[in-house]
Amino acid sequence: MKNIGLSELARRIGEPSISWLMKLTLERPEVISLAAGFTDNESLPVEDTRELLDEILGSKKSGRTALQYGTSMGDPILRELTALHLQFEDTGRSPKRIADAYTPGRMVVTNGSQQLLYLIAEALCDPGDIILLEDPTYFVFLGITALRGVRCRGIRMMPDGIDLEHLERVLDELARSGDLRRIKFLYLVSYFQNPSGVTTRFEKKLAALELLRRYERKAGHPIYLLEDAAYRELRFAGESVPSALAAPGGAERVIYTGTYSKPFASGSRVGFGLMPEELSKTVLRLKGNHDFGTSNLLQQLTARALHSGKYARHVAVLRKRYARKSVVMRDAIREHFPDDVDWSEAEGGLYIWARLPRRMKSGMKSRLFQRALAHDVVYVPGELCYAEDAARPRPNHEMRLSFGGAVETALRQGIERLGKAIHET
Ligand SMILES: Cc1ncc(COP(=O)(O)O)c(C=O)c1O
Repeated sequence: MKNIGLSELARRIGEPSISWLMKLTLERPEVISLAAGFTDNESLPVEDTRELLDEILGSKKSGRTALQYGTSMGDPILRELTALHLQFEDTGRSPKRIADAYTPGRMVVTNGSQQLLYLIAEALCDPGDIILLEDPTYFVFLGITALRGVRCRGIRMMPDGIDLEHLERVLDELARSGDLRRIKFLYLVSYFQNPSGVTTRFEKKLAALELLRRYERKAGHPIYLLEDAAYRELRFAGESVPSALAAPGGAERVIYTGTYSKPFASGSRVGFGLMPEELSKTVLRLKGNHDFGTSNLLQQLTARALHSGKYARHVAVLRKRYARKSVVMRDAIREHFPDDVDWSEAEGGLYIWARLPRRMKSGMKSRLFQRALAHDVVYVPGELCYAEDAARPRPNHEMRLSFGGAVETALRQGIERLGKAIHET
């Protein structure tokens, strides 16, 4: 590459493979994308948003507040409403007082939860440090790890979350090689995981926290649990699962990230996170340098959506809608995929993860991917969702299928086309 004077950090950024997929779907509108992680377009809350904006701009006082700069930490009312909502979700009761783990003073509002994931990595990781993460994981997060020059260790997944025995084995191995002090956190996408759809059982979160604590003394610093709850609100089946913040000692070791993108308006990109107080101070200093605050107007909008009940009503609508779309995708898979393709029904979120027989490659360069393209359909190849980890080869026989963005007829057609591509491979 021509020397244009880039920093070491910038030289570590490759073009994300997903940009190529996104570009392709824009350039070829005939292609059905089961790849894009977009939310359902038709149910975006246009009316609600217009009414709320009218309210905000209906008085000079609230209009001016919303159009003025805010603080790096975020709007106090939004933080309080978010804390109350989270504590309610975790305990099933309307809180009389906000418990330590949820105090708004430990909360930072960000431009999407994506910004917070970046800030956390920036606050905690130097090149050569280690992050433990699920195998497979959210592929955009892998971009952050590459950028920061961080090493990743993948922890095997089971239908109810990470394999704790494997986690212990990896921790043991890192203790033996003298690398414990390089481990900074375990990253879990704990609800309807992107990409596998798996939800982590609460008991597993407790056990993981306990394990991390056991190794902390030798590490010489806290090993955090970073819980990314991006899809939590989109549950349409199964039981509600508390977050790790509800664990004993959760307030000291859990970094929780959440978002209003998926359950309300993805274009507004209002995210948030709760974390130990000391860490939140550093994250705030970093955010101060990035943008010194998330859009005040969009925060006021989100706070009013929560306060007015519009948010709760919208989430209820979305849950029904995604439940229906997941069934459309499920039925099409049953009809068009061969029996040796393994997949599970979604209980929430936006994805179905399909496992082909191991001999059948699904990567970008595979025959299957090319056949799918020839039939005008794309998916996210599973290989993109695995970190570089010298301890195992990168699996290359899976697909992430999103029922979020495409309309129902396109979902049916897309799966039918993909079924053809699989049969031809
Ligand atoms: C697992 C996960 N975490 C975080 C995000 C970031 O979402 P946002 O920045 O819109 O909150 C996404 C977006 O797709 C995601 O899938």
